[in-house]
Amino acid sequence: MPTFTTRERLDLGYTDQGHGPAVVFLHPFPLDSRAWESQIALLAAEHRVLAVDFPGFGSSGPPPAGVTLAGFAAGVIELLRELGVYRAAVVGLSMGGYVALELAAQEPGLVSRLVLADTRAGPDSPEGAAGRERFAARAEKNGVGWIADEMLPKLLRPQPDPAVARWVAGLIARATPAGVAAAQRAMAVRADHGPTLERLRMPVLVLSGGEDALIPPQESARMVERLPNARLELLPGAGHLSNLEEPELFNRALVSFVTE
Ligand code: MLT
Repeated sequence: MPTFTTRERLDLGYTDQGHGPAVVFLHPFPLDSRAWESQIALLAAEHRVLAVDFPGFGSSGPPPAGVTLAGFAAGVIELLRELGVYRAAVVGLSMGGYVALELAAQEPGLVSRLVLADTRAGPDSPEGAAGRERFAARAEKNGVGWIADEMLPKLLRPQPDPAVARWVAGLIARATPAGVAAAQRAMAVRADHGPTLERLRMPVLVLSGGEDALIPPQESARMVERLPNARLELLPGAGHLSNLEEPELFNRALVSFVTE
């Protein structure tokens, strides 16, 4: 996978496939851009599809000290300009959704359409942020071997497909401790994009796994109420990682939205 070094010295790994209107994918924590394989394979027939790894994940380089979601979003914008992409549909799931909102706030003219999947606009509570610091310190001390056991019950529906659980555990095992720690600390201090929602004029599709235990569908519904031009699609049977647990439902909603 190619990498691009931004002015702020982020080494961003990315994939860039196909031709046509651009679609950019931003991945959830603690996975990497391979979480989007099924969506990339489907859309690349008629679109230019890009997927970017957060620093310390996938093929990106190690995170520089103090990397933020705003810094990552700025890096993705810089990468897209470098690749000649000035307008794109942006798709983010969970942490990827936090970054997608940040990117839309920084550069709304770049975003033709926005897909916010299993994500939220508000910041962490103080307790949530403190929990992230403990998680980060534990990853730095003990590596990433414990994370799948701890997180899978929250990322997947109550009775997950064993093959999906194995695939997700394999992706988590590829994360670096520094990447995990940096992403948690970046999420802990992310901006409140609640007010941003009201300013976003582009069409927005909000997707929510009906069994998302981390970001319940009611929270997605509240986000839709604040967006001027949005609709909600619930994906029954999916947990938090809705694109992996119900790919057919997710892909149908995604394709019809980006080709509208
Ligand atoms: C994710 O799926 O990206 C994370 O669970 C998001 C979070 O920790 O807030």
